[in-house]
Amino acid sequence: MGKVRFEGVTRVFDGNVTAVDRLDLEVADREFFVLVGPSGCGKSTTLRLLAGLDEPTRGAVFIAEREVTWTEPKDRDIAMVFQNYALYPHMSVFENMAFALKLRRVKKPEIRRRVQDAAKILGIEELLERKPRALSGGQRQRVALGRAIVRDPQVFLFDEPLSNLDAKLRVGMRAELARLHQRLETTVFYVTHDQVEAMTLGQRIGVMKDGRLLQVADPLTLYNRPVSRFVAGFIGSPPMNFLEGRVEPAPLRFVGEGITLALGERYARPLAPLGGRPVTLGVRPESIGFDAAGRQPVKAGVEVAELMGNETILYLKVGPATLIARVPPRFAPKPGEAVELYFAPEELHFFDPETEAALA
Ligand SMILES: Nc1ncnc2c1ncn2[C@@H]1O[C@H](COP(=O)(O)OP(=O)(O)OP(=O)(O)O)[C@@H](O)[C@H]1O
Ligand SMILES: [Mg+2]
Repeated sequence: MGKVRFEGVTRVFDGNVTAVDRLDLEVADREFFVLVGPSGCGKSTTLRLLAGLDEPTRGAVFIAEREVTWTEPKDRDIAMVFQNYALYPHMSVFENMAFALKLRRVKKPEIRRRVQDAAKILGIEELLERKPRALSGGQRQRVALGRAIVRDPQVFLFDEPLSNLDAKLRVGMRAELARLHQRLETTVFYVTHDQVEAMTLGQRIGVMKDGRLLQVADPLTLYNRPVSRFVAGFIGSPPMNFLEGRVEPAPLRFVGEGITLALGERYARPLAPLGGRPVTLGVRPESIGFDAAGRQPVKAGVEVAELMGNETILYLKVGPATLIARVPPRFAPKPGEAVELYFAPEELHFFDPETEAALA
């Protein structure tokens, strides 16, 4: 049972940098969990605390219901793959994968069996006799995964394992990791700053900022119901647009510079009591388009149109703000053109401008 639990875990460096701040988190057995957040938010520190490479200032860490807060890394039944997965250059692929097992005095036939099984899963059986310098980046990455797989751990820990690969390889390895997880049925705790990686790999995702865990949810909940402006802006590409304005009651509407939007019933409960107060409107690029459907138009000037082939990305001037819209490829307005746009009325988000908490 590879369940993982953090209880009130805090890590303060040098008495002043709080890298991880009161972390409470439970990851289920066999779950693929992704911790995502910007550089320096405390992801690697969290992973190192789980691995036993660092100790918390306060709090406790559990693996499979056993407290491991002060347990040596080698006694935690985990395997870790780092961003810089240095392979031993003088050893063959086989020896690289066998190394940790040798240290543990696993019998030779057992080592051979485990390395061959892992090589088969990863499709690198042909490469076992090669040295790392004779491998491509993707093949080396697979060997690094192989080193972790042969350990047959309760939990795999990954720290940005794909960030050294080029964009195309990264997409391919992403799918392989997902398949690998289905096949191995082991808990994965995966850390990345890349929200696309998080959304595509994670069964559940935790968003971290400044050492605090802001939201834990499955990918679609995170996308559709972000708890704060930060989460809303961090998840999704191109990112959510934000517009400052105020709510006016009776009839309920959002009023900003160069934009007035009537708001439906759905927003009445959370927003009507805020009548007159400033709010931040959030709208995703795909919620802005040319589909009128009885909606009020918003006047905009096209600044840039990126024709991607499968879609068009528009940079639009609305009042003083620049908004990004994602529309079907048949729309290809010229820069400088004036257009009328429509916001999907059910897909608007509202945030408190001060606390940044989601209001609706
Ligand atoms: N050994 C250390 N001593 C002092 N400060 C540290 C130490 N390790 C990390 N920090 C600080 O703790 C914070 C979190 O660092 P961490 O490495 O966990 O971030 P991260 O989310 O993994 O970032 P990245 O995406 O860049 O890898 C940063 O402010 C970092 O400078
Ligand atoms: Mg890191």
